[in-house]
Order: sequence, then C-alpha cells, then structure tokens
Amino acid sequence: MDAYMVTFQEHGDERGMLVALEYEKECPFPIKRVYYMYDTKEKVRRGYHAHRNLQQLLICVNGSCKIHLDDGEETKEIILDTPQKGLYLGNGIWREMYDFTPGTVLMSLASELYDETDYIRDYQQFIEEKKKNL
Ligand code: TYD
Repeated sequence: MDAYMVTFQEHGDERGMLVALEYEKECPFPIKRVYYMYDTKEKVRRGYHAHRNLQQLLICVNGSCKIHLDDGEETKEIILDTPQKGLYLGNGIWREMYDFTPGTVLMSLASELYDETDYIRDYQQFIEEKKKNL
C-alpha cells in the first residue's frame, strides 16, 4: 500500500512546540492546496472516497481520529493522535475517517487543486478501477 507514517522534527523549547513542513523535506510533493476538517460530529464517519491522482499528507494538528485505508488488496487502520506525525497517502487509496475526538482538527496537504472528477466515491467503482490498473 502506498501509505506510510512520517515523523516530523519538533522544534521545542520552554515556550512550546513547533513543526515546520517543507516540500522535499517533510512533504514529498509540491503542495498546491491545504484544507482542514474540524468540528466533526461524534460518531460521524467521513471520507468514503479514493483519488485517481492525488498525493496527500494528513496531519491531526489537534485531537485524534482513526483512518481506515484500503488499496483494493489490503486494509489498514491508522490512528492519528499527535501533531508530530503525518500520514502520507499516494494515489488510489480508499479512506474512511472516524472516531474523531471533540476538538479534532485534521489537516490535509494536497498535491493538486480540488477537482471533483478526481474522486471515486463508489466503492465498487474503486475496486473495478483498481483491477483495470493492475
Ligand atoms: P467532502 O469530500 O465531502 O469531505 P469528506 O469526504 O472528506 O468528508 O468535502 C466536503 C465539501 O467540501 C464538498 O462540498 C466539497 C468541498 N471541498 C472543496 O470545496 N474543496 C476541497 O479542497 C475539499 C477537500 C472539499
């Protein structure tokens, strides 16, 4: 599965902590878009899509959530619970985000601008596209 965790260098002192994300250091792709999810209601499961051509780095900058990943061959459950770590996601990974604790802010750095035609929002369609691309 083209997904892995990245641990960021923390710049901390007695005042508190800071993490910096730069292209080719912490983030392997040039960042074209940043968005963040917050105020996600209890028991909500969101996502339910894959992207045909989009790399992302997901960072839970506050709180915690879980992410279910599926590349058509294997599945993984990831917990994001620290701003010091990010989850890199390559193309063609179905994702569902859930168990958001109150106050969670899930930020996404993305390699492309928002494009609805890049989304696969139907799971069966996702599986069919993955089979064709194997
Ligand atoms: P949506 O894809 O449903 O979020 P998720 O599946 O992660 O819960 O996006 C919610 C809304 O926000 C939808 O109307 C599309 C819009 N949106 C943008 O306008 N730009 C963006 O970069 C993203 C990610 C979503």
